[in-house]
Amino acid sequence: MAKFTLPKNSKIENGVSHPMPTSNGRTKSFKIYRWSPDDDRNPCVDTFTLDIEQCGPMVLDALIKIKDEVDPTLTFRRSCREGICGSCSMNIDGTNTLACLKSIEEVKDDIVIFPLPHMPVIKDLVPDLKNIYAQLNSIEPWLKSDSDPKNIERKQSPEQRSELDGMWECVLCFCCSTSCPSYWWNGDKYLGPAVLLQAYRWIADSRDDYKEDRLNALNESFKLYRCHTIMNCTKACPKGLNPAKAIGEIKKQIATNI
Ligand code: SF4
Ligand code: SF4
Ligand code: FES
Repeated sequence: MAKFTLPKNSKIENGVSHPMPTSNGRTKSFKIYRWSPDDDRNPCVDTFTLDIEQCGPMVLDALIKIKDEVDPTLTFRRSCREGICGSCSMNIDGTNTLACLKSIEEVKDDIVIFPLPHMPVIKDLVPDLKNIYAQLNSIEPWLKSDSDPKNIERKQSPEQRSELDGMWECVLCFCCSTSCPSYWWNGDKYLGPAVLLQAYRWIADSRDDYKEDRLNALNESFKLYRCHTIMNCTKACPKGLNPAKAIGEIKKQIATNI
C-alpha cells in the first residue's frame, strides 16, 4: 500500500489560548488559524475566549474585538461590514462565508475560523488572490461596444436590464470558487464559478457588442468545461446567487450560438 508522509511544515499545531478576562457574561471560544511568513513556525490554531455580551453580534465583530483588545497581530481583510465589499470572506464553522454576515449565535459550539480553502495564505486569514484576479481580468469585465458616439449613455429596456439580475449583486468574495472541487484541483487553468459568473454578466448585457468573441474565448476544455455541475458554488454563495446556473447558460449559448 502506498504510504504518504506530509511535509513537517504542513502540520497544524495547537497555538496559544487567550482566556477571557474575569466576567459574568456569556462566553464563546473562537479557534482561529494563524500563520505568518515572518518566522519558521508551522501554522497553528489559537483560541480566544470572549464575553459575547460585550461584543457585536457578528463573527467580524469578534475578530475586530480580538484584534483591538487581545492580539493586534491577528490579520484579516474587512472594509464595509455590510456584506458589500466582499473582503471578509473566510471559512467559518466549515463553510465559506462573509464574517460580517455570519452571526455568532448561529454557531452552537466553539467557532472555528480558517482562511478560504485551497488558496495560498499571505498571513493568518488573508488568502493570496493574485491568480483569481488575473483570471477575472482575462474575461475583460467591462462594457465593450463599437457603436458611436462612444461617450453616451447606453439605454436598456427594463427586460434587458433584468437579464443582469442575480449577477450584478456579486461582491467578488470568492466563497464560491474556493468551495469548488474543480477549482481546487485545476485553479491554474479552470476559471471557476466567480469569474464565470462575471463572464456571463457581460455576455448577457444587451449593450455589449462582443458576445460571440466572449463565448469563443471561453469555449475551451479547462477554462469552462472543468465545471461538473456539483453545485457547491451555489450552496456557498453568501449573497444567494447561482453561479452554477450562469455556467450552464454559457454552455448553452456556446452550443446554440457559435
Ligand atoms: S457547479 Fe461547477 S463551478 Fe459550481 S462547484 Fe460545481 S464544478 Fe464548481
Ligand atoms: S457569486 Fe457569490 S460567492 Fe461567488 S464571488 Fe459572487 S458573491 Fe461571492
Ligand atoms: S466587511 Fe465587506 S463584505 Fe464583510
